[in-house]
Amino acid sequence: MSDTKRTATLSFDGQSFDLPVYSPTAGPDVIDIRKLYGQAGVFTYDPGFTSTASCDSTITFIDGDKGELLHRGYPIDQLAEKSHYLEVCFLLLYGYLPTATELEDFEERVTHHTMLHEQMQYFFRGFRRDAHPMAIMVGVVGAMSAFYHDSTDITDEWQREVASIRLIAKMPTIAAWAYKYSIGQPFVYPRNDLDYASNFLRMCFAVPAEEYEVNPILARAMDRILTLHADHEQNASTSTVRLASSSGANPFACIAAGIACLWGPAHGGANQACLEMLKEIGTPDRIPEFIDRAKDKDDPFRLMGFGHRVYKNTDPRAKVLKQSADEVLELLGVDNNPLLQVAKELEKVALNDPYFVEKKLFPNVDFYSGIILEAMGFPTSMFTPVFALSRTVGWVSQWKEMIADPQNKIGRPRQLYLGETLRDYVDIEDR
Ligand code: CMC
Repeated sequence: MSDTKRTATLSFDGQSFDLPVYSPTAGPDVIDIRKLYGQAGVFTYDPGFTSTASCDSTITFIDGDKGELLHRGYPIDQLAEKSHYLEVCFLLLYGYLPTATELEDFEERVTHHTMLHEQMQYFFRGFRRDAHPMAIMVGVVGAMSAFYHDSTDITDEWQREVASIRLIAKMPTIAAWAYKYSIGQPFVYPRNDLDYASNFLRMCFAVPAEEYEVNPILARAMDRILTLHADHEQNASTSTVRLASSSGANPFACIAAGIACLWGPAHGGANQACLEMLKEIGTPDRIPEFIDRAKDKDDPFRLMGFGHRVYKNTDPRAKVLKQSADEVLELLGVDNNPLLQVAKELEKVALNDPYFVEKKLFPNVDFYSGIILEAMGFPTSMFTPVFALSRTVGWVSQWKEMIADPQNKIGRPRQLYLGETLRDYVDIEDR
């Protein structure tokens, strides 16, 4: 944040107020309104935070107009092509690309925290057998605060580090076990000789009765999905984690709050909603009907997997995943699957429709991740848990950054009150 002493002047009720302006290293300038209420007695109004920077951060930068996503300055397409998920985790957490020794040490630390406390199985077993895996994840991740007491003191840097590693390491086990529980299969324990993505696939798809070989192309595609979803600056779930943690809550509780927020169909739940929509469309000839519904102002229906709050040109993650989707579909020989035919045709129709073009609504990352996960054999209910698993490192990195920030204070927005003003209580017999 450069200190140029530039100001913006706000004129209000015959008075003017000078507000400091800061220049970021990239992105638009920011007007500092922190003292506005004290000086002018007014609040600003920004539901949905479309014009509000809620914090400063050095982790991730998005240029929505250019369709650019940088982690610590490195573009996502280079990371997706040349790096892999655990290296990106290191980059997000510590701010630089690791040396070979540092990476080895980090991978070793993550790998040796993948098992869950055996007693945590009872938490899984307490859920109804048809529970959504996201419901199980919210509960089990929150419950980690009851099992790992030695990493809940947020004032202790070492405990914060241990909590971060535990969350990243255990999340695949939690997500896979939530799935296994929901289909009535035995839990598969993690294997330390496998890489992060292969281990997750094995915990989801292996059964004790048979050997399971992880297909390296599927492992690579899974690693890519994880890499592409790793962080996305101050999105809804990350802001939820930051807000929850601003009160001093323990890290496991805060990440559980992030998972709960991610679940919604406008955020991480969009990949499940998108596949369900493709199933509902059913055949390419029904696409025009759904396109018309998406355009109809009186119909709440939206094309799931299209549009983004920040990207108004292209979603750079979607570009990379589209390529992965083609590879995976070809490998699995399912490129003629009727659902995928609907997806391909819908993409074509929407990209050429003036409504979607004018409103800059492009397929987002969830459009392609759903297609890949479906082809890999995941049920739709597991799409958002996979997103939660990948985003854990982003939440954890942003949480760590926030706790270490001396400016950190409890988040407490104000409001534009439009309710009744003061009135006297009326006794029940007089109403
Ligand atoms: N289908 C049809 N119309 C749409 C869509 C869509 N998917 N998305 C936006 N619009 C229209 C919307 O009706 C509005 O029209 P108008 O200006 O005439 O009122 C205009 O485009 C702007 O929409 P908005 O709701 O003001 O935009 P937003 O920035 O608040 O919403 C969004 C962004 C992602 C919530 C929205 O595009 C959407 O609901 N998309 C479908 C859900 C989805 O795919 N979400 C995943 C996002 S990517 C993963 C993640 O980061 O979580």
